[in-house]
Amino acid sequence: MKLEDTDQLWIDKMNVSDIPGVQVIERHSFTTPWSMQAFITEITENDCAHYLVMRRVEQVVGYIGMWVIVDEGHITNVAVHPVWRRQGIGTKLLKAMDRLAYELGVRKMTLEVRVSNHKAQALYRKLGYRDAGIRPKYYLDNGEDALIMWKELKPDEFENNTDTGN
Ligand SMILES: CC(C)(COP(=O)(O)OP(=O)(O)OC[C@H]1O[C@@H](n2cnc3c(N)ncnc32)[C@H](O)[C@@H]1OP(=O)(O)O)[C@@H](O)C(=O)NCCC(=O)NCCS
Repeated sequence: MKLEDTDQLWIDKMNVSDIPGVQVIERHSFTTPWSMQAFITEITENDCAHYLVMRRVEQVVGYIGMWVIVDEGHITNVAVHPVWRRQGIGTKLLKAMDRLAYELGVRKMTLEVRVSNHKAQALYRKLGYRDAGIRPKYYLDNGEDALIMWKELKPDEFENNTDTGN
């Protein structure tokens, strides 16, 4: 579906009430989707976890998660509902997470992505992530390797800059 100019999109912290919508996207997006309980535990019990959703009207159209470990931000997942893809939502979610991470004192971001997931890799490269190695047989469902990517968060991107990524 095409986003209209009048469509209001906004980014929020993920709440427990968002999780059913998040799970719909998760099931459309991943071969081994996280359970409802996994998300609940993440947002209610894991102090190093930060989850954001992109809302459109009453609907969750995308989400992103990160763990902060010392000064590193580890992206745990990012996904956009299939009907809303390729309209910049994934980019906005990653930029919003970079900003949150920077504000939390994070200066380096990292993630793992399937070596076959060229679409996500293109998105990450566009946002400054660079290839940094391979984790062999990282994905248990099919034994696929993970590409490890890293990005530095540079002050000039965030200081004196009010762009929220929205
Ligand atoms: C990866 C994903 C989050 C991208 O979300 P999105 O909202 O469609 O991304 P954007 O519209 O912001 O795309 C930004 C850039 O990413 C790349 N990209 C995104 N979708 C692409 C596609 N289908 N084919 C090629 N490149 C693509 C392009 O470089 C694109 O820029 P462009 O549109 O100017 O060419 C989405 O495809 C998704 O949910 N995929 C399934 C879950 C997944 O693979 N998550 C990553 C796990 S590591």
